[in-house]
Amino acid sequence: MTQPTPRDKAYHTPVMVDETVFWLSTASHGTIVDGTFGGGGHSRALLNHYNELRIIGLDRDPDAVANSFTDDRLTVVNANYRDIAASLGSLDVAGGVEGILLDLGVSSHQLDVAERGFSYHSSGPLDMRMGPDAERSAADLINTESEDALARILRVYGEEKFARRIARAVVSHRPFQDTADLASCIADAVPAAARRSGHPARKSFQAIRIAVNDELVGLTDFMETGIDSLVVGGRLVVMAYHSLEDRIVKRALVARSRTCVCPPDLPQCACGASPDFSILSRKAIKPTQDEVAANPRARSAVMRVAERISQ
Ligand SMILES: C[S@@+](CC[C@H](N)C(=O)[O-])C[C@H]1O[C@@H](n2cnc3c(N)ncnc32)[C@H](O)[C@@H]1O
Repeated sequence: MTQPTPRDKAYHTPVMVDETVFWLSTASHGTIVDGTFGGGGHSRALLNHYNELRIIGLDRDPDAVANSFTDDRLTVVNANYRDIAASLGSLDVAGGVEGILLDLGVSSHQLDVAERGFSYHSSGPLDMRMGPDAERSAADLINTESEDALARILRVYGEEKFARRIARAVVSHRPFQDTADLASCIADAVPAAARRSGHPARKSFQAIRIAVNDELVGLTDFMETGIDSLVVGGRLVVMAYHSLEDRIVKRALVARSRTCVCPPDLPQCACGASPDFSILSRKAIKPTQDEVAANPRARSAVMRVAERISQ
């Protein structure tokens, strides 16, 4: 059995652990891919609950892999979950797995280490790359993209109301190399009245991080083809922390679970719908109030669960 250690708590406090263990119970004698291994909190809980379980952990951040724990039933690989099929192929489990877990976004550890450049609260190099597979740093993006392109990134990925104002300010004050300098430029560009609800750079930093790591494209690819790595009866559990991610997950699952929509008098199906997934979480699953009180990061979490029902 693996036991929690103080290091895990500092690295990242996992969200909706009981729910994860519950929904992945059907995989308890098989293999689960923890596609966003992070501090390994979910993997550890799953291994503690299910003796016969095997877990393959993936993380695009080499630091997460280097900080993983030792358990005979666990293999952790530095890889993007977007490439899950290739990772499984290289580990000789190309036949598929009984469960996949994605706990999206960044870990507390990544946010806390100023040198990673994710935090608008501290001074650090403007990096934000989750791993070496991300081609451009945040500084590359901020210092080279046009005002139009920056405004679009802020508007689409950050749902930032003041995208144009911020983009204009950034372009006229660049180059930027430091997170604190960028955060303060963004804060100055936001009207005073709008600075009261949370940090004024929060949405912009989220947007830049998503763009640097190509997060939504990776998630879309995974939902289109990566989930085919599940065997029939296998379950997918995804936790998203903002509506952009959750929308991608929800829409993909709805598309894969759509049954025939032809008029009843049509002798043969013409719409071509053949569901291969069944959505188990009819409504999004949210953390309890107690969990949110204990771990504010859980506040925005939304879990969706689906089961593969045919090839
Ligand atoms: C919210 S944390 C996961 C925390 C983890 N469930 C735990 O209990 O500690 C997200 C992790 O996913 C990783 N990640 C994000 N996008 C990824 C991707 N496309 N492929 C692989 N890992 C990814 C990040 O590097 C980070 O370590």
